[in-house]
Amino acid sequence: METKLLFPSPEALQLASDLLRSGQLVAFPTETVYGLGADALTPEAVAKIFAAKGRPADNPLIMHIWSVDQLEGLCRIPPLAEKLMAAFWPGPLTLLMPRTDRVPDMVTAGLPTVAVRMPSHPVAQALLRKAGVPIAAPSANRSGKPSPTTAAHVLSDMDGRIPLILDGGACDVGLESTVLDTCHGTPCVLRPGGITREMLETVLGTEVSVAGSILQPLKPGEQALSPGMRYRHYAPEGQVTLVTGEEKEVLDALRLLFHTSETAGRRSCVLCFHEHLEALEGCNPHDLGLRSQPETVAQRLFDTLRRLDQEGFEAIFSEVLPPEGMGLAIMNRLGRAASFRSVAARDALSAPG
Ligand code: TXA
Ligand code: MG
Repeated sequence: METKLLFPSPEALQLASDLLRSGQLVAFPTETVYGLGADALTPEAVAKIFAAKGRPADNPLIMHIWSVDQLEGLCRIPPLAEKLMAAFWPGPLTLLMPRTDRVPDMVTAGLPTVAVRMPSHPVAQALLRKAGVPIAAPSANRSGKPSPTTAAHVLSDMDGRIPLILDGGACDVGLESTVLDTCHGTPCVLRPGGITREMLETVLGTEVSVAGSILQPLKPGEQALSPGMRYRHYAPEGQVTLVTGEEKEVLDALRLLFHTSETAGRRSCVLCFHEHLEALEGCNPHDLGLRSQPETVAQRLFDTLRRLDQEGFEAIFSEVLPPEGMGLAIMNRLGRAASFRSVAARDALSAPG
């Protein structure tokens, strides 16, 4: 299959909408990451998403809408969700809603809830409006790769597998939407993203919990609140180690770990904040973005991880952020890339040899 890459002209949007309405797949930009869309109410169309991504069938999809009216007959909106929709939609917040059987099992993996999101990206909105049906869309990467934040990322994963990619430039947020469960007691963040826990708490005026597996692996036998948490997420070919501690110790430890690793013959690099590029000269520093502006770290994280693979590093040592605000979403993705492997700078510095 030839994969077209088009800028979102009116003609391209018409083609994209025609493809969606005839049960085909279209990759399109959102403010978070690129999505791989299909008509959510046609199981044969949704099945193509799983085939193109190589995604396990028991990992449910998010249904994208441009107007709340589209939910009529598909799901019930819990009162807390209503409040959050008013505050954060359109935007990077996905809400779980109890669903009716008009939503295909293929979308929800048979779960009693459906995940719904209204993206704010103008191209996504225009496409959803033109297509007129809710669009099921996971991130447009091959399963096991980082989510795509540019059309070039989508092309490198999906060339030959889908008919069309709409190129809307680089995504603004850079990490996937926040997934929130408001159906079961205390609202719970299942996946942290652009809308932070703190922002949710401010609007709701109540505590919001965070699923335990966000900053640590699921324990053996522990049940995943969200099926996506069960799967091994993207990790670069090289081994990533997170280095924690106070700034000066971390910089010293990064230098030591890098040089020890290179001496042992492993192709190595460090992932550091923009502010520390100079201090880590000679350690193959890769820029994570500004520590003082975590949004810039989120924006470029997946692109950086893709580059590390292309450059073939075997050992990668990374700085960390406190898991607050956007830092929580960043540390969730970075933690998974590292399989949650971390070392305290102080221990690294005092280790013999
Ligand atoms: O920002 C985003 O959310 C992007 C853009 C394209 O909208 N989409 C995205 O979709 O990241 P995906 O499929 O890569 O991630 C959806 C996550 C998965 O972890 C999935 O397990 C979870 O949402 N999920 C979907 N439906 C669910 C449900 N009913 N209950 C619990 N978790 C659900
Ligand atoms: Mg994904």
